[in-house]
Amino acid sequence: MESPHGILLVAFIATFAVIHLSQAEDQEGFISVDCGLPPSEASPYIEPDTGLWFSSDSDFIQTGKIGKIDPSLRKTIKTYVTLRYFPDGIRNCYNLSVKQGTNYLIRVTALYGNYDGLNITPKFDLYVGPNFWVTIDLENMISGQTEEIIYIPRSNSLDLCLVKTGATTPMISSLELRPLPNNIYITESGSLKRFKRYYLTSSNAILSYPDDVNDRVWEPKFDPEWKHISTTLEANNSNGFLVPHDVLKTAAIPANATARFKITKELDFPDDEIYLYLHFSEVQSLQINESREFDIFWNGQPFDNTVSPKYLKTTTIKSTTPVTCKGGVCNLELIRTTNSTLPPLLNAIEIYSSVKFHQLETNENDVFAIRKIKARYGLNRITWQGDPCVPQKFLWDSLNCNSTDTSRQPRITYLNLTSSGLKGTIAAAIQNLTDLEKLDLSNNNLTGEIPGFLANMNSLMLINLSKNNLIGFIPQALLDRESEGLTLFVDGKHRCLSGSCVTEKKFPVKTAAFVSSATVMVIIVVLVLIFVVKKKTSSNSEVLPPSSIKPSVNVTSNNISEISIKMKRKKFTHSEVMEMTKDLERPLGEGGFGIVYHGVINGSQQVAIKILSQSSTQGYKEFKAEVRNCSYSNMFKQMCFMYSFILVQVELLLRVHHINLVSLVGYCDEREHLALIYEYMSNGDLKDHLSGKHGSSVLKWNTRLQIAIDAALGLEYLHIGCRPSMVHRDVKSTNILLDEGFTAKLADFGLSRSFQFGDEDHASTAVAGTPGYLDPEYYRTGRLAEMSDVYSFGIVLLEIITNQRVLDQTREKIHIAEWTAFMLNRGDINGIMDPNLHGDYNSHSAWRALELAMLCANSSSEKRPNMFQVVIELKECLASEISMKSNDQDMDSQSSPEVSMSCDTKDVPSAR
Ligand SMILES: *[C@@H]1O[C@H](CO)[C@@H](O)[C@H](O)[C@H]1NC(C)=O
Ligand SMILES: *[C@@H]1O[C@H](CO)[C@@H](O)[C@H](O)[C@H]1NC(C)=O
Ligand SMILES: *[C@@H]1O[C@H](CO)[C@@H](O)[C@H](O)[C@H]1NC(C)=O
Ligand SMILES: *[C@@H]1O[C@H](CO)[C@@H](O)[C@H](O)[C@H]1NC(C)=O
Ligand SMILES: *[C@@H]1O[C@H](CO)[C@@H](O)[C@H](O)[C@H]1NC(C)=O
Ligand SMILES: *[C@@H]1O[C@H](CO)[C@@H](O)[C@H](O)[C@H]1NC(C)=O
Ligand SMILES: *[C@@H]1O[C@H](CO)[C@@H](O)[C@H](O)[C@H]1NC(C)=O
Ligand SMILES: *[C@@H]1O[C@H](CO)[C@@H](O)[C@H](O)[C@H]1NC(C)=O
Repeated sequence: MESPHGILLVAFIATFAVIHLSQAEDQEGFISVDCGLPPSEASPYIEPDTGLWFSSDSDFIQTGKIGKIDPSLRKTIKTYVTLRYFPDGIRNCYNLSVKQGTNYLIRVTALYGNYDGLNITPKFDLYVGPNFWVTIDLENMISGQTEEIIYIPRSNSLDLCLVKTGATTPMISSLELRPLPNNIYITESGSLKRFKRYYLTSSNAILSYPDDVNDRVWEPKFDPEWKHISTTLEANNSNGFLVPHDVLKTAAIPANATARFKITKELDFPDDEIYLYLHFSEVQSLQINESREFDIFWNGQPFDNTVSPKYLKTTTIKSTTPVTCKGGVCNLELIRTTNSTLPPLLNAIEIYSSVKFHQLETNENDVFAIRKIKARYGLNRITWQGDPCVPQKFLWDSLNCNSTDTSRQPRITYLNLTSSGLKGTIAAAIQNLTDLEKLDLSNNNLTGEIPGFLANMNSLMLINLSKNNLIGFIPQALLDRESEGLTLFVDGKHRCLSGSCVTEKKFPVKTAAFVSSATVMVIIVVLVLIFVVKKKTSSNSEVLPPSSIKPSVNVTSNNISEISIKMKRKKFTHSEVMEMTKDLERPLGEGGFGIVYHGVINGSQQVAIKILSQSSTQGYKEFKAEVRNCSYSNMFKQMCFMYSFILVQVELLLRVHHINLVSLVGYCDEREHLALIYEYMSNGDLKDHLSGKHGSSVLKWNTRLQIAIDAALGLEYLHIGCRPSMVHRDVKSTNILLDEGFTAKLADFGLSRSFQFGDEDHASTAVAGTPGYLDPEYYRTGRLAEMSDVYSFGIVLLEIITNQRVLDQTREKIHIAEWTAFMLNRGDINGIMDPNLHGDYNSHSAWRALELAMLCANSSSEKRPNMFQVVIELKECLASEISMKSNDQDMDSQSSPEVSMSCDTKDVPSAR
């Protein structure tokens, strides 16, 4: 059963609603927010005095707490009873949906009302977007403080922020936005802060909505020196300003009809630049012999033309330029003209101070995108409110922006969401941060693939996606960007080329492109020469059609010079090289293209410096000379183009670091002096150690397996770990170098000894590896691919196992692989193993290694394993060696290889 009261209430609300429903459409575009109103508590509701629909603020802000003013004060306007206060964070912002370019009246009211029982009135600042608007200081403001501004939002969302400036807590009671017609309140200098809005009347009614369709608040003003005149008739207010009819029905004239109409006394003006709006409407029906005509004077100067208000029709006089009042003193006088029979009249006056908002908002697309990212990952950070970039003191954390040029909108240039617990795929909205230079999403739980759009973000210089659960390969476009200088950190598995390493593989996080040691530049130059010649003879160049090249091609484009800058850090002068090597004091040996010297860099770091011999640098020199005169023939123009490519390549080389690749520390490229500086490998090469040339003790079986693993890892990296993948071309025991801890590293990639400079015939400089190590398939196909490296690696492995020379004319079988097969066929197992090991190895691991070596050295590339499989097999080999060894020791058994082997025949490789 409904109580009679209940029914009454329902009936009341129903009529109320009907009355105000018609007004609802007038409220179109109004935003009326009752701050701190719990959303469940009758929101929206109709404010009884105005009939405006107010709603809770919960849709516009995520932060802050809800409060209610002291019960003794709750008889005030309903919207001021609840409030929201902000104990956390410095800046808290309301986010409102507005129409870009529309002029809005924004009104904020804060009524403290001792909501927290502390009786400490707050003081804080209000910001519109990134710009300071006004300070709210509620001391002695029992009925609160209301501020109004007329502002044109520059985007479709508006941030209204409360900023803590001291110890007190910012708070807000209500927030109102009213769209205004765009042709009124237009100033040259931006926004208008309301100072006063009066209508001259003896009544004491405050007028606002619905009397004012734009919900301006008009306060009554009365002065004994004035005389109030009025009418009951409605004036025509359609001059744009839509001043309420009740304002136009009443006016003031000076009590002494012959005196000037001084208004100044009633007003104190702000010190700022001000804008005045004076509204006139004649309220008396003038007789034929009557006239009302007057001039407006501002500090004694005529303010506008002579005014003669029309009966029941609005005239508005406004300042076209701002005026100032020093010390708040200004004279506004209306003086009747000589033939006017009636004194001056004024209905209403509005005074605004001009507010200049200099700080531009962050680029709207950036804001849109970062908000999307925030929503997508549920990033509820206290600083992530309001404008992301500005003011700089409120910059969102984990972001950085370029806001140096104040005439441009700030742009987001850096986003670091490392270790932020991000889940799901990489947000597509990131691509809209078009000025982003660095993106760090590492150490999250991101899934899905590496998105291709990253490659289209042209400003990106660094991307870190490592330590996530991403799948798939790196998009080719992104790899291309990498070769143009983008730094990309991803988990190693993404760098795999083939399906051969779908399982988790740990490559070093910091991988770049490929390493080629040796005379990379020289090689590339020659490759380029070959390329150019081939292109010339085969087809018209697709890379750079000759017709499209203008004389003096721009070799030093920005791109290239940037790369050059990066390279410079590792570039050394010839005299520096001489100093490092103490004038070539200590040669270490001779390698392809020149002699290697010992050197010291930075006073302590030992290096090996390969000085390229004159004859080998000649080609390069010539090439460079031609490049400088870029305008010769089309062929050289094309070389100019390729020279940029070379710079990119060298730059890549300098960046690559893999523990099992000898790294390039620097280089020298000074006229005819060309040197390459490598890390120093104090233990020389593997071959010396196997042959005992080093004089040190014989390498143990464990150590040999470890060296094989190291070398295999280096090779695996070249084949699978880096893009574009790389073929070493010259894997052999002299190219496996050992550092002081016997860690093996590969040297001399992509280089072949038979590569000669100064040769007349470039066609004869075909790449070829070292005899004995060279893939037999190469003779058939003329092509060296990854599988050729696997073959050569198999030969190295045989050397490690047998310590036989690769080619030995005095042996039954000249080639080491043939010899091993021959020995296996004969069943002479013991004869295969290096006698220097003195049987100190586990037969199981030895056989596994031997089988692997024979598989790698299979004459058919299809039957060879890839390096990924080789690494796994070798690791298992070493593990079994270690565990078997400890078992052997535990059991103290002296089982002979033969015994062990016969139990394990399936591991014996079949001879091929
Ligand atoms: C801001 O308001 C817009 C429009 O109402 C909304 O799409 C966006 O998600 C809001 N952003 C935040 C941070 O609340
Ligand atoms: C009010 O005045 C305007 C021109 O100033 C006129 O177009 C309009 O018809 C008038 N309205 C009424 C109700 O007289
Ligand atoms: C009215 O103003 C005139 C001119 O300022 C002055 O001469 C006159 O005395 C004033 N009358 C009264 C009653 O104050
Ligand atoms: C008052 O006199 C001026 C010239 O002095 C004239 O332009 C104006 O029309 C007159 N005003 C009235 C209402 O007669
Ligand atoms: C910021 O942007 C300006 C203009 O776009 C540019 O000139 C300047 O180099 C940028 N600054 C930084 C630090 O990126
Ligand atoms: C991202 O932030 C982390 C932690 O503050 C820092 O270690 C890392 O270097 C940053 N990433 C970039 C690209 O600056
Ligand atoms: C990128 O911005 C454009 C323009 O603001 C928008 O239409 C598009 O939806 C945005 N893309 C994403 C993925 O957010
Ligand atoms: C990924 O999510 C799991 C649980 O879903 C969590 O234990 C782990 O810490 C998260 N990793 C990162 C890096 O956030």
